[in-house]
Amino acid sequence: MSGGVPGTATLGGLRRGRSESATCLLENPRARRGKFSASPVGADTLRADGMVTEVQPNAPRAEPWLALAPMQDITDLPFWRVLRRYGGPDVYFTEYFRVHATSTPERWILDSIVANDTGRPVVAQLIGNDIPALVRTARALQRLPVLGLDFNLGCPAPVVYRKCAGGGLLRDLPRVDAILRALREAVTVKLSVKTRVGFDSAEGFDALLEVLAAHRLDWVTVHGRTVSEMYRSPVRYELIARAAARLPCPVLANGNLHSAGQALEVLAQTGARGLMIGRGAIRNPWLFAQIRARWRGEPAPRPTGRDVLGYLHALWDATAALDLTERSHVQRLKKHLNYIALGVEPSGRFLDGCRRAVSRAELFALWTEFLDHNRPLELAPLALPVGARDVLAGVHT
Ligand SMILES: Cc1cc2nc3c(=O)[nH]c(=O)nc-3n(C[C@H](O)[C@H](O)[C@H](O)COP(=O)(O)O)c2cc1C
Repeated sequence: MSGGVPGTATLGGLRRGRSESATCLLENPRARRGKFSASPVGADTLRADGMVTEVQPNAPRAEPWLALAPMQDITDLPFWRVLRRYGGPDVYFTEYFRVHATSTPERWILDSIVANDTGRPVVAQLIGNDIPALVRTARALQRLPVLGLDFNLGCPAPVVYRKCAGGGLLRDLPRVDAILRALREAVTVKLSVKTRVGFDSAEGFDALLEVLAAHRLDWVTVHGRTVSEMYRSPVRYELIARAAARLPCPVLANGNLHSAGQALEVLAQTGARGLMIGRGAIRNPWLFAQIRARWRGEPAPRPTGRDVLGYLHALWDATAALDLTERSHVQRLKKHLNYIALGVEPSGRFLDGCRRAVSRAELFALWTEFLDHNRPLELAPLALPVGARDVLAGVHT
């Protein structure tokens, strides 16, 4: 079991530091207790507390599953913990593990999985197209405390899709078919797919649904855009509805969900079993609690400027790390602030100030200037003057 690198132990392709306990690599203790165990495919088994419960598939009044979307450089354990304070989703997804012939799972993603203390389950996402490498990685990852593994069929970054991975695989359905067959055979925890509706058009969407339907997936998340549409075009909720009607497993709807009212409309319109939310949850960490409250007919939290100020300080504290200089810490927080600023004020001054700041003092003064008030904030995206290739378009490579 000992690896070739000093101070690490290797098991099933995973490397970990000596200081960490190895038990989670040897077994999934929660799975042993039946908490995250695999269940009949297609059954409705995920509950807010992460416990497994069996009810009828697609039961009409069952509370929707709420998932935090995987987002590179953002959705790690510190961010999951902050969201949890405000209610949080039912399930977290990791950013993708990059899988190829010589890959080993990224250490910083593993750390979030093994130290997850949010009380909510984690799904680990994989991206790649090399079947033996995907199977090897899936076998190793499923020994960690994960609810399941998710396969990425949507990443629109050119560096990824040009290698026929992520969204690029939507141009090669026979390969998707072969990958899913191999993964389904190897994976004993839940197996899901996160997909877009096509590469540069949705013409092949029905054929994609046929492939997905053939592999006993536990759920499928549909981001209602093509790969070429990146992040800014309107979302095709009618195609998500088609997926929900045709697939034998639950479907999660994804794309541009930013308020509780609109999220519930999308649920009704698509017939989806749940929602996956990305940028909307960075901007508004109360969003999951607001959706649940609206669903139950209870009063929803209404954050004020001062509440958002508290959220920004919580993010600052959560993203602090021993090896981070103040300047790098400010830079790191900008990944979140780029999205949050969209919901704070419409002139662009707040966004601009966040982007220019190089010190903690500058950031804190700016936050206080704009947010130290008791007026409620919707935290939905405002029409800010940003360019087409701006980071707010979500273009990340
Ligand atoms: C910064 C950023 C990073 C992302 N990283 C991933 C990723 O690692 N895996 C993935 O499947 N999708 C990734 N996505 C896409 C999101 O999961 C989601 O599908 C997309 O943002 C649309 O949902 P939203 O409108 O709720 O944000 C990323 C999106 C953003 C903005």
